Amino acid sequence: PGHWPGVIEAYRDRMPVEPGWRVVTLAEGGTPLLPAPRLSERTGCQVYLKVDGANPTGSFKDRGMTMAVTAALAEGKQGVLCASTGNTSASAAAYAARAGMTCVVLVPQGKIALGKLAQAVAHGARILQIEGNFDDCLELARKTTADYPVAALVNSVNPTRIAGQASAAYEICDQLGQAPDVHCLPVGNAGNITAYWKGYRGYHADGLISDLPRMFGFQAAGAAPLVHGAPVTSPETIATAIRIGSPASWNGAVAARDESHGKIAAVSDDEILAAYRMLSAEEAVFVEPASAASVAGLLQSSADGTLPRGSLVVCTVTGHGLKDPDTALLTAPEPEIVPIDPGAVASALELA
Ligand code: F0G
Repeated sequence: PGHWPGVIEAYRDRMPVEPGWRVVTLAEGGTPLLPAPRLSERTGCQVYLKVDGANPTGSFKDRGMTMAVTAALAEGKQGVLCASTGNTSASAAAYAARAGMTCVVLVPQGKIALGKLAQAVAHGARILQIEGNFDDCLELARKTTADYPVAALVNSVNPTRIAGQASAAYEICDQLGQAPDVHCLPVGNAGNITAYWKGYRGYHADGLISDLPRMFGFQAAGAAPLVHGAPVTSPETIATAIRIGSPASWNGAVAARDESHGKIAAVSDDEILAAYRMLSAEEAVFVEPASAASVAGLLQSSADGTLPRGSLVVCTVTGHGLKDPDTALLTAPEPEIVPIDPGAVASALELA
């Protein structure tokens, strides 16, 4: 018994944290590793979902942000700055509020999901919309913190973020008692695939797991620079979280793919939306569209034969469905209006 202390305390010996630092935590991590019976049936594999939308701000970013903001505070930084497609900004805003630091977020104009914007506002961040895409925002954030080092850059180009995010791999190994055979995840700026691979390798080097997983990363077809082998100038996808044309952790993603004998493939917006709807309707796990890219990729890999039947598979679902209510309601019918009458309700239940 006892409470979950957050990822820094849970894995302190693996985190770049010094004794005496004030740990800025919202008790992130410790998220469910949920069996997925319908996906298992469809693929002939044993499939689990790592439900990272269950983190305090609703995405996996919290795992890295606890570390980045803890380090920023210890280094005496006065504020935190990030570029974001939405989740990083929500997380940075929350952890900065907890630390009592100011937070500025740079987001691509008109391309961030409503829930994420609401979070950044609620936590008191200054939100600057940039006339450009995520890649432009990140370049501006890097230039700004180079010129004004009193602000900490809390994007995943910051190695403390990667160290924090590696905790998800530790949790999966601790929960399963081994690494999965295959790990599927969505790839945008490529920090997370880099972090998972670092986490698995760390556990492997210390003898805590005997085998490493194959890493399967999935990009949206309209934003798939790692699949094409070249940056994409105008990335487009309904999965705004991964609408990125020039991933900062390019080399980390390629190393994860090649060293693990894995792959990085593209999934279309239609495949993403089909997986998105399947997850909420059949597995009862409501995720945002980018998160469904991992499951779209799982189904694609099962169909094209690159995923061996019988594999133990973990798909990370990275962000909560409530982040993006607009996409959820895109094709939904208007709620029906009925009289105050049990008969009308019973007929909706198909009982009358
Ligand atoms: N899934 C979600 C829900 C995300 O928000 C992101 C990235 C990814 C997957 C991809 O992870 O970038 O490490 O490859 N979101 C960033 C942001 C870019 O600004 O919130 P990655």
